[in-house]
Amino acid sequence: MINLNNFSSFFIANWKLHGDFKFIDQFISELILPEDRSKCVVICPTSVYLDYISRKNKNLYFGAQNVSQYKEGSFTGEISCSSLSDLKINFCIVGHSERRKIFNETNYDVNLKSSQLIENNIIPILCIGETLDEKNNGETNNVLAKQLDEGIPELSNSDNTIIAYEPVWAIGSGLTPTYEEIDNTHQFIKKYHAKFNKYKVVYGGSVKSNNAKEIVSLSNVDGALIGGASLKSKEFTKIIKD
Ligand code: PGA
Repeated sequence: MINLNNFSSFFIANWKLHGDFKFIDQFISELILPEDRSKCVVICPTSVYLDYISRKNKNLYFGAQNVSQYKEGSFTGEISCSSLSDLKINFCIVGHSERRKIFNETNYDVNLKSSQLIENNIIPILCIGETLDEKNNGETNNVLAKQLDEGIPELSNSDNTIIAYEPVWAIGSGLTPTYEEIDNTHQFIKKYHAKFNKYKVVYGGSVKSNNAKEIVSLSNVDGALIGGASLKSKEFTKIIKD
């Protein structure tokens, strides 16, 4: 398993259902990586392209966007943790709000998937976050607490799991919480359980080149999970730059 403590920050590109061979070739040739090797830059394309992109000779890391909770067997269409491990993939996003909302993924599923990933030496990037209604009703911390209680598996610890705080209303909307709100929520997560104190907690939701630096430099923020802005090589280069 990759040693998370070797890195000062994490920049995780979630390409969702975008990209093809041509896009990948162009993106990789235009991308300029930071000189600071302590920044961990992770690209998460659709699983079909993981093998192709991981053969590109760049100082990059790769992640899947989802995985099956089943080990093997009659589960048509699923992708197993062990197949990701065969490809030497280091990370996998789990419980993204789009999977929770569109594909009815529950905290229980998130727990099982994360547990299997850890057993296969793959780091789950476990997403949690509140909806706008929940935020407006002052329920943010309760919602996050439940997602953490039910979603984080027993064998998870700060060496094998990353938490991603992604307010659902901030994803793809151009809206973000204030910097102070982001920092406070990350602090809440880190203080919620004694063992979370050392976890890497990254922020996601409308991260762009004009706010990434401020967000990632907040004291309780260890990096960013980037959707839309990670699809533009120049914009992504600016986000990860020193
Ligand atoms: P966004 O997406 O950066 O486009 O808001 C983030 C995500 O969905 O992980």
